[in-house]
Amino acid sequence: MPTQIELNPKYIDSPTDRIMEQIASVRKKLGDRVVILGHHYQCDEVVQFADFTGDSFKLARLATERPEAEFIVFCGVHFMAESADILTPDHQKIILPDLGAGCSMADMANIEQTEEAWRALEAVNGSNSYLPITYMNSSADIKAFVGRHGGVVCTSSNAATVYDWALQQDKRVLFLPDQHLGRNVGFEMGIPLADMVLWDPMQIPADNIAHGAADARVVLWKGHCSVHARFLPEHIDSLRLEKPGIQIISHPECSFEVVQKSDFSGSTEKIIKTIEASEPGSTWAVGTEINLVHRLAQMNPDKEVMSLSGISCLCATMYRIDPPHLLWALENLESGTIVNQISVSAETAKWAKVALDRMLSLA
Ligand code: 13P
Ligand code: SF4
Repeated sequence: MPTQIELNPKYIDSPTDRIMEQIASVRKKLGDRVVILGHHYQCDEVVQFADFTGDSFKLARLATERPEAEFIVFCGVHFMAESADILTPDHQKIILPDLGAGCSMADMANIEQTEEAWRALEAVNGSNSYLPITYMNSSADIKAFVGRHGGVVCTSSNAATVYDWALQQDKRVLFLPDQHLGRNVGFEMGIPLADMVLWDPMQIPADNIAHGAADARVVLWKGHCSVHARFLPEHIDSLRLEKPGIQIISHPECSFEVVQKSDFSGSTEKIIKTIEASEPGSTWAVGTEINLVHRLAQMNPDKEVMSLSGISCLCATMYRIDPPHLLWALENLESGTIVNQISVSAETAKWAKVALDRMLSLA
């Protein structure tokens, strides 16, 4: 993957107010040629320039609904920009303002490891015995693998629907790369914990098989989100003691124990809607990224909204999309230079689109 070039000091050294004015000005000049999409974990300074905000599912759908825009500037992370490129026609260019905006969870599964696991599992249970599901937080290569093998992409907002569809196929499931989303939603769909076994890509296939992976109904890839891993069941216990009546809502990337102890669980969009619709005066602790938690507190002044953890749970890669990089990307577009275009090769895009379209049609 290409690395981000260092920005000219004029972007880094300018006062924030000046940068904000410049973004507003260049944005205006670009007009309908550009759509800016912003994920809910982006900081306020960036979100204020987004034409649309959303969770990863909503943003994927929005990307397909703006065919008139020449450029989609994606204020999110790499896998989201790749998905937008896969889903949009060739004349639309997807721009990620900082190429360093990756996702550590997506990096926990690569295509070689996935193919190795697939071969080993099929060697035990026979070809055609598995259906792969990949979380949106995965590379285009993995989405293409899933598309080729009759599988589907899911996000945290539609994982239950996708699981339901997969379980009707009467096959075993390989779910990657987030073990927590896979376990949380699998359990919700009635699969006992004992029937969901981890596949550790750092171990040799024989060891995974010896630990029961091939006997399981669902094989969970051993990946996780390092931001959501910081929320612990103890945080919930102490908040419930400290603030009786508090309601807890967590993202399904949190551990099984955290989700089980929460009152609600769901995608970033569901978290926003649930708190917005709640009673004035209610108190909420939220198990997700801190930029969103802070925004929820601001947007709901009639409620008390706090993070589930005292430790600041910031997604450092989302945070790389900052006003200087946004300005740099927009100014280049305005002057006719396309920077940081995210482009998936035609063959990979073809199969990844099969898996993404399947998700869109199920949802
Ligand atoms: P959502 O689809 O819920 O926005 O989640 C994306 C993500 O990366 C959460 O860590
Ligand atoms: Fe990836 Fe976690 Fe950041 Fe989401 S919060 S983009 S899963 S590292």
